[in-house]
Amino acid sequence: MESADPGSVRRVLLVGFMGSGKTSVGRRLARLLGWAFHDFDARVESVAGGSVSEIFRRHGEARFRELEAEVGRRLLTAERAVLASGGGWPAREGRMESLPEGTLSVWLWVSPEEAVRRARAEGATRPLLASEDAVERARKLLEERLPHYRKASLVLDSESAPPEGLARTIHESMSVGTARHEILPS
Ligand code: S3P
Repeated sequence: MESADPGSVRRVLLVGFMGSGKTSVGRRLARLLGWAFHDFDARVESVAGGSVSEIFRRHGEARFRELEAEVGRRLLTAERAVLASGGGWPAREGRMESLPEGTLSVWLWVSPEEAVRRARAEGATRPLLASEDAVERARKLLEERLPHYRKASLVLDSESAPPEGLARTIHESMSVGTARHEILPS
């Protein structure tokens, strides 16, 4: 895992699988820091003029990934901002390795079972999990993405605390200067 100097953090990037709470934790962390919050998926939806599911359905995943890449490039220049990426954004060679200076990356861990439970509770918003064998699909996707998520500077178990608690932990780790640690299930 790479380390980051929290004193020089100018943006926080939350990564992790679908349902790991990037958006809810990100909003709360932004509030604690008094920073802006930007969500990759929400930005893609406003650029495309439709929901993520509609983009997948009408234009295919490849088009979604192009839009996501473009949005990611732009949002990663934001200063004093908390960013929530989509679950698939880090899973491209080189992305986690070439984050701009001043970016603290945080991986929110979630189990495949809990990811699917949360995704279902939110309705049909995740096209990649819209199948009967969603847990199996989630397990496979998560496994493929682990090498990328693992490159984050800080890792938190999203099932260990509610979003407010996770946001506080990140905030505290920034202020006490321990921007490199792991809190994962034992
Ligand atoms: C995806 C995750 C989704 C969204 C799209 C694809 C993925 O974002 O970008 O459905 O590939 O994991 P969330 O992680 O915010 O659910």
